[in-house]
Amino acid sequence: MTVPAPPPVPLRHDEGADTAERVERRWAVLSVVIVVLLVTAATLAGVYQGAMPQAWVETANPRTLHIEGEFIESNLGSAIEADGSVTVRGIGQQYSFTPSCITVPTDTPVRFRATSADVVHGFLITGTTVNLMLVPGYISNLSARFDSPGERLMPCHEFCGMGHEGMWGRVKVVDKAAFARMAADRRRVSCVE
Ligand code: CUA
Repeated sequence: MTVPAPPPVPLRHDEGADTAERVERRWAVLSVVIVVLLVTAATLAGVYQGAMPQAWVETANPRTLHIEGEFIESNLGSAIEADGSVTVRGIGQQYSFTPSCITVPTDTPVRFRATSADVVHGFLITGTTVNLMLVPGYISNLSARFDSPGERLMPCHEFCGMGHEGMWGRVKVVDKAAFARMAADRRRVSCVE
């Protein structure tokens, strides 16, 4: 004699589980939408940059930087231009900046022009908006203005090799009049003794 199988227990429909499922599905859709948006934005940016390359790029040959052109050693450091503004030229290399200490005046337009002799380095002056990448083959440009005198640090902020941690420079911001006195008797100002 066989025992009849018990009738199947109907799945209890739980309202909480329903709500959870609905919310979960909504978040799943939202995350896919976010990913699609990000991929679209990256694609558009890539196409735009590919179609419209930078209008103006300056190059410098890293192999001959020290021998000829704008970045020879005697041309590095800060120089006063005819219009009273200051141009600072520098080079980054594993693992130092040349010059390793820069002097700039307060209340003066200062233009930085720098490049790299080997790999990509970072060029940043603490407490300011000066922040550049030094890419071998290219000249990086940035204009700045310093309000108050003081000493600032200039760390390399792109990993450039085993000595990256020790790649630091210093920046001395000096009073405009003091800078003019320093610049009076030499062509380039730096604070390397
Ligand atoms: Cu140069 Cu890090």
